[in-house]
Amino acid sequence: HFYVAIMAGGIGSRFWPHSRTDNPKQFLDILNTGKTLLQWTYERFVQFIPKENIFVVTHHQYTGKVGEQLPELPAANIVSEPSRKNTAPCVAYISHKIHKQDPLANIICAPADHLIMDGPAFTNACLNALLFVQKNSALLTLGIKPTRPDTGYGYIQFEPQMVADNVYQVKTFTEKPNLELAKTFIQSGDFLWNAGIFVWNVKTILAAFKQYLPEIDELFEQATYALNTPQEKEAIEQVYPQCTNISIDYGIMEKASNVYVIPSNFGWSDLGTWASAYENLEKDYLGNAVQGKNVVVIDATKCMVKVPNEKLVLLQGLDEFIIIDTSDVLLICKKDNEQQIKEYVAEIKRNK
Ligand code: GDD
Ligand code: MG
Repeated sequence: HFYVAIMAGGIGSRFWPHSRTDNPKQFLDILNTGKTLLQWTYERFVQFIPKENIFVVTHHQYTGKVGEQLPELPAANIVSEPSRKNTAPCVAYISHKIHKQDPLANIICAPADHLIMDGPAFTNACLNALLFVQKNSALLTLGIKPTRPDTGYGYIQFEPQMVADNVYQVKTFTEKPNLELAKTFIQSGDFLWNAGIFVWNVKTILAAFKQYLPEIDELFEQATYALNTPQEKEAIEQVYPQCTNISIDYGIMEKASNVYVIPSNFGWSDLGTWASAYENLEKDYLGNAVQGKNVVVIDATKCMVKVPNEKLVLLQGLDEFIIIDTSDVLLICKKDNEQQIKEYVAEIKRNK
């Protein structure tokens, strides 16, 4: 009764210009490893979950891409959303769908676009979580020791007493705090980042939807007759436009009282920005992470460079720059200012 739902419908705008609405981060090999982030995510799970029980939920625009990147995944396990409604509707949909086929299911809902270095430690944390939620009506999440007051994450404060093997009850869950609050959390020392990897029994998450997002739950409830039948597509196309656009973090995790955490350490990175990709790449002796076969570095330091292999690039006198070249867009920006890429990109799109 163990399942995985990989959420792969986001647009990852901070990895612009490599990630675009038509080719977001999860489908890219950001670190030049030979596999995309989605492929790595799938591989981590298929180590301990049969592929028939692994689902990838994504916007219909990307279903073809998922099929190409994961040829061994059964086609019926690629679940298509007709519109972008963030992660709460995605979780509601897949939970109702799995519940119909297996009311005893325990599900890991995981992002498709993270970097995890220690596979065995990850497997252990997941199995431990699955065993816990099988017996307890818990909304469990994996927690990561934070290293900086990043405002892009959820922050978890937990009770000091362990309730089961490395499992703790969560006191507060704060999604994307402002910088001031994030600093307070980091200083207090007893907070974790939410890795965004959730584990729960299907009954527990459906009960949480009924309590905290009843309007979303009701819509999928009405469509249940059609799930796993040829009518599914049509029924889901009716449901999606009516769904509230909200993430599972704001919609449920911040509100629920039965939230638990497993503090974990498996070399996690959200790879949210080029700067975080830089942190995870090999660097030359001047601290430059260079991807591209024809890059000549004269006296640049701590730069992140990703350019096509066939392009000859000469770099001189730059410190802490991000230089990303694609066939139609060239990005050159200071590493410090990178968080604003999202805003710049939105601005450029508006003005075009
Ligand atoms: N199917 C589907 N549909 N997937 C989606 C959608 C959607 O509408 N929106 C986002 N996703 C996918 C993304 O592709 C990603 O894999 C995952 O869901 C999480 O969405 P993000 O948009 O990347 O969330 P976030 O990074 O802002 O925040 C979440 O992750 C952080 C850790 O990386 C939260 O859970 C935070 O609390 C957490 O700290
Ligand atoms: Mg993310």
